[in-house]
Amino acid sequence: MTLKKVKIDQLNFNPFTKIGKEWFLITAGDSIKNCNTMTASWGTMGVLWHKNIVTVYIRPQRYTKEFINQFTHFSLSFFDASHRKDLNYLGKVSGREKPDKITEANLQPIEIEQTISFKEANYIFIVKKLYHDQLEPDSFLFDDLTTKYYPEHDFHEVFVAEIEAVYTQE
Ligand SMILES: Cc1cc2nc3c(=O)[nH]c(=O)nc-3n(C[C@H](O)[C@H](O)[C@H](O)COP(=O)(O)O)c2cc1C
Repeated sequence: MTLKKVKIDQLNFNPFTKIGKEWFLITAGDSIKNCNTMTASWGTMGVLWHKNIVTVYIRPQRYTKEFINQFTHFSLSFFDASHRKDLNYLGKVSGREKPDKITEANLQPIEIEQTISFKEANYIFIVKKLYHDQLEPDSFLFDDLTTKYYPEHDFHEVFVAEIEAVYTQE
């Protein structure tokens, strides 16, 4: 299998199942030696400012956020079900305490365009950051969300990013 760049219009990709049920990795860095990744199951894809965009929601304590902050681009990588246990692992341990977490998850990082993804991914979105902010506690219209999701007040940071390239396996 090899990764092939495809046009976004040719994609057969259901964001609801891919993001919410199958999960993905958010990865940032400028080399295989200097990168970090984390599992995510929340995110949005759509159109804003006449651009194809993704939005990811990252809690401030994530080590991956330090890499996202540092670089212009990051990637979203999706996998088939055989990598579910790897995504589980990468969503439990932090690269801050376990710098080898990618190797331990048995995934092979690759340098691709301006960022890092994985040889085993079956969909890769290379994205460029456009907008960064933090969810504002006072802007929630219903308290049940803040009570349920933010007992530690670690409100997600939001990154809106333009999809610059998409790869699939052929
Ligand atoms: C299924 C699943 C989904 C997750 N989704 C998110 C998410 O959308 N945003 C987030 O900040 N953390 C999410 N996490 C938690 C991070 O993946 C986890 O804290 C990870 O260990 C962070 O690694 P890091 O500190 O090396 O960046 C999720 C974890 C799992 C298992």
